[in-house]
Amino acid sequence: MTVIDLRSDTVTQPTAGMRDAMASAVSGDDVYGEDPSVNLLEAELARRLGFAAALFVPTGTMSNLLALMAHCERGEEYIVGQQAHTYKYEGGGAAVLGSIQPQPLEVQADGSLDLNQVLDAIKPDDFHFARTRLLALENTMQGKVLPLEYLARARAFAREHDLALHLDGARLYNAAVKLGVDAREIARHFDSVSVCLSKGLGAPIGSVLCGSTALIAKARRLRKMVGGGMRQAGSLAAAGLYALDHQVQRLADDHANAQWLGDELRKAGYDVEPVQTNMVYVQIGDQAQALKAFADERAIKLSVAPRLRMVTHLDVSRAQMEQVLKAFVDFSRK
Ligand SMILES: Cc1ncc(COP(=O)(O)O)c(C=O)c1O
Repeated sequence: MTVIDLRSDTVTQPTAGMRDAMASAVSGDDVYGEDPSVNLLEAELARRLGFAAALFVPTGTMSNLLALMAHCERGEEYIVGQQAHTYKYEGGGAAVLGSIQPQPLEVQADGSLDLNQVLDAIKPDDFHFARTRLLALENTMQGKVLPLEYLARARAFAREHDLALHLDGARLYNAAVKLGVDAREIARHFDSVSVCLSKGLGAPIGSVLCGSTALIAKARRLRKMVGGGMRQAGSLAAAGLYALDHQVQRLADDHANAQWLGDELRKAGYDVEPVQTNMVYVQIGDQAQALKAFADERAIKLSVAPRLRMVTHLDVSRAQMEQVLKAFVDFSRK
């Protein structure tokens, strides 16, 4: 039985075209700056998103960490969502490795941070306080797309209050495809953007941090420090380039599959949050463990949580969505 894995969009296998691109990639030592494929990926993504420079790193976690550490010095502070990946799911790296203090704020229902709350959280210039340096947003945020009008306001706000603005754009392209805009329309509001190639875009590994020449030079030094210099990384960069050229527009299929599953589950009586991109959130409550076991027997892999997240990606089809729906319906009739 083919396994249907809905735990994350990180679980995909490289497509045949991607494998070919990886196999034929030219490579060199990237720590010496001599890997043509890595250099091309960095130049290409910087160009596409409207930045002066970019840096290829193994993971989104490292990319965000380098951004936070490049923007903030020891004893400085970044304002971030309580539920944001950079705050909650990255092992406290900014605090542990960068001595950067997080100031978390509750994320609003639409995935944004309330700029009035951000304003209240900015510390006065007084030696009692850490210096507030950076505002970090996430887009998509748990599958939600931040409105362009909000991004423009956040840009103006950050400028007014002398804050840098970072985007964890692990799923930047999901947001762009959903809005029907070029990703640059989102990226242009930020001082730095981290993009994951290993999520919906389907590459096996890799993220790219984009920013100014000075910021990326600092991040490159920090990358070496945290052990992220990757030598002959060309085949990985080639996978990323292939994804950017061939696997962006198809994200709309993942969104359609998620939308379909969300709608059908709602019709079947489940409490489903509105679906915007490739994530379906269902309130399962204390049934989480039982549902997971039931799904396991049907070769459907789910995370276990009362608020269950299912993520669509290039390795799940509409026919498989129908199998998932059937499993949920059977479970509710048990
Ligand atoms: C929004 C977001 N940011 C960053 C990351 C970190 O990426 P990685 O797993 O490559 O470290 C993830 C991973 O799932 C994520 O969902």
